[in-house]
Amino acid sequence: MKTVLLSILFAVGIFSNAHVFAGDIKAGQTKSAMCAACHGTNGVSAADNYPNLAGQHADYIVKQLNAFKAGERKDMMMAPMAAGLSDADMADLATYFASFTRDGQPLTPSGEESVAAESTAPVRAAATKPAYIPDATAGKLLYQLGDKTRGITACIGCHGKDGNSDVLINPNLAKQHPQYIEKQLRNFKENSRHNAVMNQISGNLSIEDIANLGAYFVDTSAIGEVKASSVVVMKSFIGDVVAGKAKAATCAACHGADGNPAVSMYPALAGQSESYIVKQLKDFKTAVDSNGASGRVDPVMAGMVAPLSTDDMQNIAAYFASQTLNPIVVEANEKGKKLFVSGDPINGITACMACHSINGKGMDNAAFPSIAGQSASYLKAQLEKFRSASRENDKNSMMRSVALNLSDQDIEAVSQYMASLK
Ligand code: HEC
Ligand code: HEC
Ligand code: HEC
Ligand code: HEC
Repeated sequence: MKTVLLSILFAVGIFSNAHVFAGDIKAGQTKSAMCAACHGTNGVSAADNYPNLAGQHADYIVKQLNAFKAGERKDMMMAPMAAGLSDADMADLATYFASFTRDGQPLTPSGEESVAAESTAPVRAAATKPAYIPDATAGKLLYQLGDKTRGITACIGCHGKDGNSDVLINPNLAKQHPQYIEKQLRNFKENSRHNAVMNQISGNLSIEDIANLGAYFVDTSAIGEVKASSVVVMKSFIGDVVAGKAKAATCAACHGADGNPAVSMYPALAGQSESYIVKQLKDFKTAVDSNGASGRVDPVMAGMVAPLSTDDMQNIAAYFASQTLNPIVVEANEKGKKLFVSGDPINGITACMACHSINGKGMDNAAFPSIAGQSASYLKAQLEKFRSASRENDKNSMMRSVALNLSDQDIEAVSQYMASLK
């Protein structure tokens, strides 16, 4: 159970701020001599099948070296390289490679780019022409939006707007060799490289999708221009929105006809994740979660869901998910923002954004709810229920383990911050 939880936490990139690797740059430079043949002296490799390490997150590098060493990630070349590395070696090497920009320019001690340094980035050789002509625009759309109908989560939420991720355990993809990116996506797809999230997403990528994503990364200048807001999101739903609207009439008294409630003790359902709503309705009905523990117990909602069929639930969820949330104006606050974005490693609180995403909209494919613009009093009540374990329908205790360490003041601040998100 504990290992399952841990691997899930790693998969979603929870331990973002939990590690601070205090490696030694100088020692790392000396040790990196044996890496240079393939990864370049400054972490910019000359060949397309060797990944760039320059400017990669140190936490991510250490995690990969441990995976190669343990044989969890398999590669003929890297296995013997990692086998002899101690924890200190790994920290030194990671600190060294992380001390460059993605182009291989040294960073000054303040973390600024050094202007004096000369570019050592190699000129990329023209790729051999594949049979399928990849479409960089299609790759860009997939990167930014994913494809809900095919179960492909947008990459942007985890790998960052411009391919530079905020979560330190999620790799930067900007300026990585496109061929290497394609190879890793195939490895994840074929399960020869293991990561729960990436295996699931890549499993739904076609060979053409992978080529398109690679093509998108060929044009590194295009990556820098990516703006999440510049893209029109085309929503599609599994349930039947029209049938759902008819069934949802009985819900209007509390949740509002369009999912915007009049009273703040009732949660808003407008724009909430479809898969999350379905899961909640099932949990209220059975009051047993997928682990067999008692689920979400609420006497009011139990009565409401009793007459609903599985199809009804899917359709109602589609209807509310298709509606637009009208958030109430709430002031943001620094304490809440800090908890949401960075968590509190000392007190064992995972950053909320790792699962609820930076804008609070959640992740529909994973049934992680949107909490953005939800009523603060409802959010507060739910955090208290998770903390006391009177709500225990969260898979693998994902929320209970976070809520356990929240103080009353934390709950107050973070609930208000979440309610302020648009
Ligand atoms: C003989 C060539 C070779 C040498 C030498 C080598 N590597 Fe690698 N390295 C590779 C290849 C090939 C991969 C990609 C493996 C794959 O496709 O999964 C890789 C992958 C990696 C990765 C994962 C990068 C990512 O983005 O996931 C890290 C980290 C890494 N190497 C670090 C090192 C370090 C540190 C050294 C020196 C101690 C080193 N390598 C020496 C060939 C080499
Ligand atoms: C929920 C978060 C999440 C989403 C969404 C996501 N990734 Fe990842 N991705 C990760 C994590 C975490 C890893 C590191 C896995 C590991 O530790 O081995 C990773 C690794 C990768 C790698 C390997 C990088 C390297 O340096 O070896 C590539 C390539 C990649 N992802 C591409 C994508 C693409 C393309 C998409 C969208 C179709 C995507 N990812 C969506 C979290 C995510
Ligand atoms: C009499 C008032 C009332 C009615 C009518 C009602 N609900 Fe609720 N609903 C609630 C309350 C109260 C909660 C919060 C329960 C808790 O604290 O866990 C809730 C919670 C929910 C949630 C969970 C939201 C979240 O963010 O986790 C969903 C989904 C939901 N209701 C859907 C429905 C649907 C669908 C209907 C109609 C079939 C309906 N409700 C009718 C009072 C009502
Ligand atoms: C490991 C992933 C993860 C992390 C980290 C996480 N959450 Fe959650 N959260 C979830 C999941 C999954 C659910 C839905 C559980 C369910 O199925 O009912 C949830 C539900 C919630 C809810 C209830 C929403 C509703 O509509 O009823 C609130 C409030 C919440 N989270 C707040 C937070 C806060 C605040 C943090 C950070 C301190 C946080 N979460 C961190 C995964 C996470």
